[in-house]
Amino acid sequence: MKQTTVFDCKLIDLPKKHAGNGNITAVNNFLEVPFDIKRVYYLYDVPGGEARGGHGHKELMQLIIAATGSFDLIVDDGKVKKTFQLNKPFQGLLMPSGLWRELENFSSGSICLVLASCPYDENDYIRDYKDFINYKNAL
Ligand code: TYD
Repeated sequence: MKQTTVFDCKLIDLPKKHAGNGNITAVNNFLEVPFDIKRVYYLYDVPGGEARGGHGHKELMQLIIAATGSFDLIVDDGKVKKTFQLNKPFQGLLMPSGLWRELENFSSGSICLVLASCPYDENDYIRDYKDFINYKNAL
């Protein structure tokens, strides 16, 4: 589980239903995501073109969606880096635990919606890239 690689990330299409004036997308536990969603958070008011600092998670699994606008999600397993451009509210990047991630190139007004498998826990974070490499090598 922890010996995950960037190739375990999956870009998934979410159901998009035209409902009245607009669309609706629903995400269900164990249906569109292979885990129980325990937390939802979203990043917003990121200045256009800017990036968020990177970090890794030991256990957390996430589905990351550009609910509005676009940004680049760079995933890194210590050996390989892969960039996904997220720009559709009906698409999400399913990210397993054990990867380093960075968010870059936010479009102005974009919203990064994250559906997460665990409550917030600072002990689950790896905030230093060298620590992340050591963590992966020790597995
Ligand atoms: P963090 O996950 O470090 O975001 P980024 O890597 O994009 O900067 O979170 C930034 C701050 O927000 C950090 O002090 C912890 C806090 N935070 C919470 O309190 N709850 C949460 O669910 C999240 C994701 C962050």
